[in-house]
Amino acid sequence: MCGIVGYVGHRQAYPIIIKGLHRLEYRGYDSAGVALIGKDGQIGLYKCKGKVDDLERFMAGKDAESTIGIGHTRWATHGAPNDANAHPHFSQSGRLALIHNGIIENFRVLKDALISHGYTFRSSTDSEVLVNLIEYVQDTNECTLEEAVRIALRQVVGAYAIAVIKRGDPDRIIAARQSSPMAIGIGEGEYFISSDAASIIDYTQKFVYLKDGEVTTIEKGKPLQIKNLYGEPSKVDIQKLEMSISQLEKGGFPHFMLKEIHEQPDTLMDCIRGRVNPDTREIVLSGVLDNKEHFLQAGRIIFVACGTSWHASLIGEHLIENLCRIPVEVEYASEFRYRNPIIRKDDVVIAVSQSGETADTLAAIDIAKRAGAFVYGICNVVGSSIARATDSGTYIHVGPEIGVASTKAFTGQVTVMTMLALLIGKLRGTVDSAFYHEVAGALLDLPEAIRKVLKKAPEVEKLSRIFTYAHNFIYLGRGYNYPTALEGALKLKEISYIHAEGLPAAEMKHGPIALIDAEMPTVVIATLDHTYEKTVSNIEEIKARGGKIIAVISEGDTQLRHRADYTIEVPGTVECLMPIISIIPLQLMAYYIAVSKGRNVDQPRNLAKSVTVE
Ligand code: F6R
Repeated sequence: MCGIVGYVGHRQAYPIIIKGLHRLEYRGYDSAGVALIGKDGQIGLYKCKGKVDDLERFMAGKDAESTIGIGHTRWATHGAPNDANAHPHFSQSGRLALIHNGIIENFRVLKDALISHGYTFRSSTDSEVLVNLIEYVQDTNECTLEEAVRIALRQVVGAYAIAVIKRGDPDRIIAARQSSPMAIGIGEGEYFISSDAASIIDYTQKFVYLKDGEVTTIEKGKPLQIKNLYGEPSKVDIQKLEMSISQLEKGGFPHFMLKEIHEQPDTLMDCIRGRVNPDTREIVLSGVLDNKEHFLQAGRIIFVACGTSWHASLIGEHLIENLCRIPVEVEYASEFRYRNPIIRKDDVVIAVSQSGETADTLAAIDIAKRAGAFVYGICNVVGSSIARATDSGTYIHVGPEIGVASTKAFTGQVTVMTMLALLIGKLRGTVDSAFYHEVAGALLDLPEAIRKVLKKAPEVEKLSRIFTYAHNFIYLGRGYNYPTALEGALKLKEISYIHAEGLPAAEMKHGPIALIDAEMPTVVIATLDHTYEKTVSNIEEIKARGGKIIAVISEGDTQLRHRADYTIEVPGTVECLMPIISIIPLQLMAYYIAVSKGRNVDQPRNLAKSVTVE
C-alpha cells in the first residue's frame, strides 16, 4: 500500500510524478504529496489530505520547476489521513525529504531514542521517524547520505520502500527496499522510481527491481550501482517490461472495474494463448513441465493466498483433488505464517496473488521455502516480489488490474489452476484422457461464453437498481460454486459497503436461515450441476420463509425461472469451469449496486489494492 514515485534527470519532474501518482492511486488514496528541489537548491514540499486531484489543485500556481522530485499517495497505517501525516516528510532540519511505503515496526523505540536526542515530530507517522533517524545518523557519523541510509536501515525492523532527497543536491535520489516493491526505470541519463513499473511505462521499458536489503543512489547521468545494507555491491539486473499504455487507461468505460469486467473474454484468451493448443487440446505450462518431479512426487499441495486469490484457491482445491488426487489445503497466508504449520519436503506450496506483493503471502512463501517445500507462484504482475520469490510459476497474463476490486484476476487465476490441474493430472495419470481434452476444449470456448454473459449487463443493471435498499445479502453456492458465492459477496461488500455473507447453500439450515426475511435478498448460484436439485431445495426453504431469491441459472432452466424472484441465465460449460462464468453476473451486480449508491467503485473507502503491510 502507498504508492511512491520519483524522477531525476533532464525533464521537468513534477508532471512525471503527478502522472505516476495517478496511476499508483490504486495503492492508496487518502493523501498525497510531492517534494521538488528548486533552482535555489531548496526543497519545496507540498502535500495535502485527499486524492492526487486534490494535490494538483493545491499545487496550482505554485512553483513546481525542478528536474528532481519524489511523490507519494498514501494508505494510512500510522496516523490519521491528514495533511501532517501525508508524505513526503521533512527531517527535523529540513535538509532531507523522504517518502515511504511500508511499516516500521520498531518505530516507537527509535522515536523515543530520537526524542532523547532532542528531536520533535510534526506527524504521527513511522515514516517521519525514519527520515529523522537518517538525519541523525548522518550528523553523528559525518557520512554520505547513502551511508546514512544504510546505517539507519540496519536499525529498522519492518517493511519499506523509501526514497530520500537532500537539499542542495539536485542530481541524486537514494532509494532502498525491504519487503515493499521498488522498481527503477532507466532512461537516457535519467532515472525513474516507482512502486509499480507500469506507472512509468510511458518513459522507459527498462527496469531494475530492487531486492530486499538493497540500496542505491540514482544519479543523473551516472550508471546505476546497487549495494546491500553493508555497502557490498549487488548485481544490476535490467529487465524489459512489455506493456501498452492503453492497458492503463479506462478505454471509454466510466470505471476501471467495469472495463476490467468487460475485458475478461480477451484476458482469458491471453491467459490461455500458447498454453492450450487449439488443434490438439494439449496443455503446456513450462513452469510445471520443467519441475515435473515435484508435482509427480507431491504428497500434498498447499495454497496460500488472501482475499479474492484465496477464493480462487478454493476452486483450485476442488480441481486438484478431482483431477490429480493429491490432498490439498487452502490457507489464508496471514494465518499460515503465524501458525507454525507442518510443512514437509514433498509438499508443493502454491502462492496465489494478483499483485505479487501481498506481504502475508510473501511471508508464507518464505516459511514454506525455509521448510524445504517447492514453491510455485500464480501471479499477474510480471517481475513482482512473489513472482521472484517462488521457485517457479505461471503468470495469469490478464494485464494490469487497476480497479481495487479484483475481477479479471479471479477468472485468470481459476483458468491457470484448471490448466495446472489438467496437466498435473495427466502427468500423474489420474485424469481420464477424454475428460482432459473436454475441459481443455471448454477452456478455449470460455471467452465466447463470457461475451454472452456480458451482453446481459443492461439486464443486471436494471435488476441491481431494485436492491440498492438492502443492508444485507446472502450468497449461496455449492461445490465449485461455493467459492463463487464467497467471491460474489466480497465484491458487493467492498465496493457498495453492503454487508454480504457467502455460504455453502446447505449450511443455511445450520443457523444462517434465521436471518431470512423479506428484507434480506439471497443470491443463489444454481446452475445445472450435480448438486442442482439440492440447491433447488435450499431455494424452496428460503422462499418458504419469505426470502427474495436472485438466482444465477443455466440457460433454459424453466424450473428456476419460475421459482426464483429474479434470474440471470448463463451459458453452460463443464462443471469445473462454471465459476468463471457464474462470477460475471455477480461482478456486474456488485458494480451496478455500488454505482446506484453513488460509491467510488474504483477506490472504495479504506481499501487499497496492493496490501504490502500485515
Ligand atoms: C478483493 C481484493 C483483495 C485481494 C487480496 C489479495 O477484490 O482485491 O481481496 O484479492 O488483497 O491480493 P493479491 O491477489 O494481490 O495478493
